[in-house]
Amino acid sequence: MPRLAYVNGRYVPHAQAAVHIEDRGYQFADGVYEVVPVYRGILVDEEPHLDRLDRSLSELRIAWPMSREALRLILGELIRRNGLTNGLVYLQMTRGTAPRDHKFPAASETALVITTKRQNPISEAVLAEGVSVITIPDIRWRRCDIKSISLLPNVLGKQQAVEAGAYEAWQVDDDGYVTEGTSTNAWIVSAEGQLVTRGVEHAILNGITRRSLLDLVREAGIALEERRFTVAEAKAAREAFLTSSSSFVLPITRIDDSPVGSGKPGALTKRLREHYVSHITHAERKKALA
Ligand code: PDD
Repeated sequence: MPRLAYVNGRYVPHAQAAVHIEDRGYQFADGVYEVVPVYRGILVDEEPHLDRLDRSLSELRIAWPMSREALRLILGELIRRNGLTNGLVYLQMTRGTAPRDHKFPAASETALVITTKRQNPISEAVLAEGVSVITIPDIRWRRCDIKSISLLPNVLGKQQAVEAGAYEAWQVDDDGYVTEGTSTNAWIVSAEGQLVTRGVEHAILNGITRRSLLDLVREAGIALEERRFTVAEAKAAREAFLTSSSSFVLPITRIDDSPVGSGKPGALTKRLREHYVSHITHAERKKALA
């Protein structure tokens, strides 16, 4: 069965999927995207992802190309046709195709591209060791809350991490506070034992994994502070971890050259990962029964 992509109304073989060269996403990065995890064949936190998509679109004044219900059906159909069990759905909407000109085109139709990718959850071996992050200056624009496809600083940052032998780069604002990773949100358990993650404003993407985990943290009655933290505070922390749709909750055991805590994944981090995995397993069962 060839892998299919959905492109502007058609299911096409992935290898032949293409958009026009004057798609504004291609020329101006004038578009938004979502990455939704698929776990055991079910989209995880689909509604919050679609809510965030709706927000990103409205912030950029891009129209929905179809109803939300129609989009849901297409997502389900692509997962089914591609036989996807574990992995990710990538969906991208741009302002459409028009002769190159910075201002919004008078008339253009929102372009929609959806692809799927098989990916197994992070291996037990990696979870047992944790990953390392480097710290880099945050050189992005001031609307990181919008899930825009304009990701050049993130691409450069991730490449810098990889070349340094790290998994992720934590971006640091001009005041010395960590904003977030290049494709993940940042968390620590401070030296005092407090769970800390940056509050939501324009400097970070409000991760859906972050939000789900915050709900679980509150339900479990775990003390939490939503506030900024510096690189120094992170290096002195007992634990650190990151969250994202592709990594779920992933322990960090090294920041630049400093081991975090004992240098092994922390106890609270492990517990939170277990909570999260049980949340998505539970949600998956509930959805299958609906
Ligand atoms: N990245 N911060 C940034 C800058 C991100 O790009 C992402 C997601 C996150 C975590 O958000 P979520 O929990 O909703 O995945 C935080 C996706 C996975 C990507 O670009 O591939």
